Amino acid sequence: MSIRHVVALGGSLLRPEEAAQRETWMARLRQLAVHLEGNGRKLALVVGGGLPAREGIELAAPMISSPRRLDEIGIAATRLNATVLQQILAEIGCDVAATIPHTIEEARLLMDSHHVVVMGGTVPGHTTDTVAVRLAGAVQARHCIIATNVSHVYSKDPRHHDDAEALTEVTLEELGAITGVGVPLEPGASAVVDPMAVQAAMDSGMNLAVLDGRDIGLLDDALEGKPFVGTTIKA
Ligand code: UTP
Repeated sequence: MSIRHVVALGGSLLRPEEAAQRETWMARLRQLAVHLEGNGRKLALVVGGGLPAREGIELAAPMISSPRRLDEIGIAATRLNATVLQQILAEIGCDVAATIPHTIEEARLLMDSHHVVVMGGTVPGHTTDTVAVRLAGAVQARHCIIATNVSHVYSKDPRHHDDAEALTEVTLEELGAITGVGVPLEPGASAVVDPMAVQAAMDSGMNLAVLDGRDIGLLDDALEGKPFVGTTIKA
C-alpha cells in the first residue's frame, strides 16, 4: 500500500495578510502535493474554516442558541476553503478527488483511487483537527500533522504568559494536560490542538506533529520524516 499522509491545515493559513504571500503559500503547497504524487504517495488535506467560519458564526450567533447550528455554519466554511484548495490543485492536472468528502469513510475510499483528497469538517462537536486525526487512524498514517499558525505547542498560552515555553517533544498525556481532553470547544473557538482531537489521538494511539504551516518547508520536513521545527507528540 502506498504511504498515506494526513495534514490538518488551519484555515488562517489560506489568508495571510498580504495577497502576494497568499499566492506564494498556495503555489508552494501545490508544488508539495505534486511532488508527493510524483513519488506515488497519497495526501489528505483537512482544511479549517478560518476567517469565513468566524465571520459566519459571528453573524448568526445573536440569532442562534444551538452550538450545533453554529457548528454547521463553521463546517460550511471549512468546505468552502477545501474547495478553494481542491480547485487550485485540479487546475494543474493534479490527481485530486473531484468531490469533497462528508465523512471519514468517504475520504478513506477516495484515497484509494486518488493521490490527493481535500476535505473540511464532518459533523458538529469538534474541529477539523479531530477529523484529521480520525482520518489518519483510518488510513494508517504514521502520524497526523497539524499545520497551524504558531511554531510549537507551548507549556501555557503564550499570548497571556511571558514565561510560556515552546515544547519540542511531549506525550499525548502531557498535551492533554495543556489543552484539555475530550471537551468540545465553543463553535468558532480556537486552540493549538482541539481537545476532541487529543481524545481521538489517545483512542487510536496516533502520534501528532504540530508545526507552523505558514512555512511549507517545515511541512515538507515533517512529511519526509526528517526532524522539523515544531512539536512532536508521542502516543
Ligand atoms: P475549524 O476546524 O476551522 O476550527 O472549524 P479551528 O481549527 O479552531 O480553526 P482554524 O481554521 O484552524 O483557524 C471551524 C468551526 O467549524 C465547526 C466548529 O464550530 C469549528 O469551531 N466544525 C468544524 C464542526 O462542527 N465540525 C467539524 O468537523 C469541523
